[in-house]
Amino acid sequence: MSKEIVVSGIRSTGYLHLGNYFGAIQNYVLMQDNYDCFFFVADYHSLTTHPKPTELKQNVFRVAAENIASGLDPEKVALYAQSDVPETAELYLILNMLAYMGELEKVPTFKDKVRQQPDNVNAGLLTYPVLMAADILLHKAVKVPVGKDQEQHLEMARNFASRFNARYGDFFPEPQVFRFNHEAVKIMSLDGEGKMSKSENINATIYLSDEDDVIRKKIMKAKTDSGPTEPNSVMPEYIQNLFLLMSLCSKPETVESFRSNFNNCNIRYGDMKKQLAEDMATFVAPIREHAAELQKDEEKLRKILKAGAEKARESASKTIEGARKLIGINYY
Ligand code: AMP
Ligand code: TRP
Repeated sequence: MSKEIVVSGIRSTGYLHLGNYFGAIQNYVLMQDNYDCFFFVADYHSLTTHPKPTELKQNVFRVAAENIASGLDPEKVALYAQSDVPETAELYLILNMLAYMGELEKVPTFKDKVRQQPDNVNAGLLTYPVLMAADILLHKAVKVPVGKDQEQHLEMARNFASRFNARYGDFFPEPQVFRFNHEAVKIMSLDGEGKMSKSENINATIYLSDEDDVIRKKIMKAKTDSGPTEPNSVMPEYIQNLFLLMSLCSKPETVESFRSNFNNCNIRYGDMKKQLAEDMATFVAPIREHAAELQKDEEKLRKILKAGAEKARESASKTIEGARKLIGINYY
């Protein structure tokens, strides 16, 4: 029986952080044995913010290395750079004809960008979800492991797929969000201001490349308060986030003990953060070291990305050929 097809991508816009790891990569690793996986570095997507040409390659290679260091096996999955599969751009163009201005303008991530970078509201930002849909539909994926922040984009991919099917005939399956452990993990920034992300406060973001001491420093500075005064209080979001991080990298009994301290109003956040910092440093260190080693071996990374692109193009060209035929681009 053929395996179900999975696609996901991570933008090459900076260093990968715990949100990327727990929200995305950990799911990739869990899926690689049982699905036909296409994982890519979304370098086309990163162009919306005009990265320096001299830095692009390094960014792409680093994201690839950090994925492998996190446990992704390029022998099992196709790991590639989005721009090595130019069929992506053709499908993006086709889907753009089925995407409406009104729906694109309403996307919350677009509205955020308009707010954050009013001087650079380019059409690539507006059509970001269309490019993402092209990435996914290009391989006729049915499952897409992404964090909660990407759910709306995925809904749009389903809309574009069904619009294409309604107009030209049944062709694309409708891709669904997939999470191995069901729960959507969303890691908040350590300053309590929104989600952890590549471009927000770097002192409140833990990167997979952070040294032990940097991790300790960042966690010790994480936002807390003077603690609950009523037993079994509701946790503020920033405290929940510390517990979430602890549940992801510490022993269950450690989390339980701090949780009961919280519920009994005798929690000492300083102690909790000290413990979390140690466990987090232990968790991140092997990933950081492996990724650094891989980045030194450019030849190896190049081979991996080329092999991944070859596999991806094989599947992509079939889809493009089929889509062209249905549209009527079939002249000779
Ligand atoms: P990005 O860094 O925006 O390219 O995101 C790559 C992947 O990581 C996507 O699947 C996101 O949903 C996921 N991701 C990014 N930030 C977070 C976060 N703070 N918490 C959980 N998942 C995240
Ligand atoms: N938009 C995604 C993000 O910012 C990255 C991405 C691009 C993606 N293309 C994709 C994720 C296709 C899943 C499938 O996180």
